[in-house]
Amino acid sequence: MCGIFAYVGPKTTIRVALEGLRKVEYRGYDSAGIAYINEGKLATKKAVGKLANLEKVLGEDASPCIIAHTRWATHGKVTETNAHPILDQTDSIAVVHNGIVENFEQLRHELEREGVTFRTETDTEVIANLIAKFYTDDLLRAVQEVMPLLTGSSAFVAIHKNHPDECVAAKIGSPIVVGVGEGEMILASDPNAIIHHTRDVIYLSDGEVVRIKPHSVELFDASRTPISKKVEQLAHSAEEFSKGNFEHYTLKEIHDQPQAIRNAMLSRFLEEYGTAIFEDLQIKPANLLAVKRIVIVAAGTSFHAGLIAGYMLEEIARIPTDVEISSEFRYRNPIVADGTLVLAISQSGETADTIAAVRELKAKGATVIGICNVHGSTLSREADGTLFLRAGPEIGVCSTKAFTTQLTVLALFTLMMARLRHISKTEGQEFLTALKAIPGQVEQILSQSDAIQQLAETYAQFNDFFFIGRRYMFPTCLEGALKLKEIAYINANGYAAGEMKHGPIALLNERCPTLALCTDMLTYDKVVSNVMEARARHSPILGIAFEGDTRLKKIATHLIEIPKTRDELAPITTAVVCQLFAYFCAKKRGADIDQPKNLAKSVTVE
Ligand code: M6R
Repeated sequence: MCGIFAYVGPKTTIRVALEGLRKVEYRGYDSAGIAYINEGKLATKKAVGKLANLEKVLGEDASPCIIAHTRWATHGKVTETNAHPILDQTDSIAVVHNGIVENFEQLRHELEREGVTFRTETDTEVIANLIAKFYTDDLLRAVQEVMPLLTGSSAFVAIHKNHPDECVAAKIGSPIVVGVGEGEMILASDPNAIIHHTRDVIYLSDGEVVRIKPHSVELFDASRTPISKKVEQLAHSAEEFSKGNFEHYTLKEIHDQPQAIRNAMLSRFLEEYGTAIFEDLQIKPANLLAVKRIVIVAAGTSFHAGLIAGYMLEEIARIPTDVEISSEFRYRNPIVADGTLVLAISQSGETADTIAAVRELKAKGATVIGICNVHGSTLSREADGTLFLRAGPEIGVCSTKAFTTQLTVLALFTLMMARLRHISKTEGQEFLTALKAIPGQVEQILSQSDAIQQLAETYAQFNDFFFIGRRYMFPTCLEGALKLKEIAYINANGYAAGEMKHGPIALLNERCPTLALCTDMLTYDKVVSNVMEARARHSPILGIAFEGDTRLKKIATHLIEIPKTRDELAPITTAVVCQLFAYFCAKKRGADIDQPKNLAKSVTVE
């Protein structure tokens, strides 16, 4: 949940760290800091709040070796003292850390008994003091001694004042990437922060340690044996990490969707046979044919995509499917019967709960397919096969294009599974025709942005909302409500429309609008009745329906019309309306859209 950046090389200005931090700031942004070596001593600069605050306190010092951090607090309040880098008690070692040391209390007590004084509330301070304890002129060796003592999922980078040209990093569960430059080396939690220096990267695996100096990278496995690893080329361009002329990454990413969906489909279907193919999937068709049950694990927006996939897989492919929130699932003792296939959905591929659920399922013998956006992520490395979203980097904390590309990939996967079983070529071709029309339909919705903005500005005054819909629209309601909560800080509930009269309808009044998602045609009549019930309680109604709708138009206070598609694919287009609505509500309310409070992009702690 925190962002790490470290640099050794000729760009000695400490401001190089600021640029690196800007690229990982989305991972956490309650405080930030840097440490470097100045005249043989460790120097730190820290500030609470956004990077702009750190920028104000940065001087013009030079150092060939800098570590930097942007924090999402886990242990200890958001204060300058608790901001990283964290120093050992002798001010010789500085550490930046992402993740949690689960046994930190025990380690801290042991160190305190040995006379160590702690100055922060962080778990990271045990790492700094343990490195100091084991340090005898060799920072690498000391880090290697410390690693087996730590439990939980972490990645950290350490520097020592006596080694002004080296950083040592360790990966124990959380991501860390090495950038291999010409006479310069970089470490970061995300390749995003590296691409401006070099495209050559090495992904560390769990248990590995790396020592970087300007001209060398030394890698070691968990048994301290030197290893060599493949240098990979970053696939993305630097422009993909920029927000271009858009005011926010979130808005840019909403607008990226037509192309992102096209990319997600590219060369993944066979028109002639009315089916989908995934060349990147290393699982044989015979094994896919043997699947008797699917379990989907995911969190947040990815969970909502999973719920929609659950409906599709049961209805179209006729495969029993259970969809589980990964943070709940990981504490169960799941029964993995023969023929169970797991789909683990995660944009980042780093969500701790989803990774833990995957490990549990793999330990029980299940085959796992990851549905993921980030190459080299933990999920993509641990799954038996990965279907990449090809959405391009998603920087806004609020997930937008990841959701619609997840649905695209899941729709294709469903089609493939259905064609392997029972649906006809013609039915498959009809499905593909509808799917191929989606990017154009999303473009049409984006062209209605001004109208959606006007409506959002009218509704942004309300503090409570209900999103109601049935069947494919129920998870879409959950997703629409999540967007409004997350970026506009508005209390919004997604509800299965049929459930309203079992309790929540008591909350409806003229100050509590209802967003009625009426783009599931099988349940349209029922939802219209539920909308009537809401209107009878004076709830302002903002309806979303297919073009040409006449019934909802008569009862809704306002109506947004979108192009007609199949029920299974309507979540994609309807979600885009919800994203724009939330974005413009948030803008009207002056919220920090790309970096909503209390959140971080990738949730690498439980
Ligand atoms: O990277 P993941 O897809 O595993 O992330 C899961 C959730 O943390 C994420 O979808 C979160 O709910 C989004 N910020 C919602 O917009």
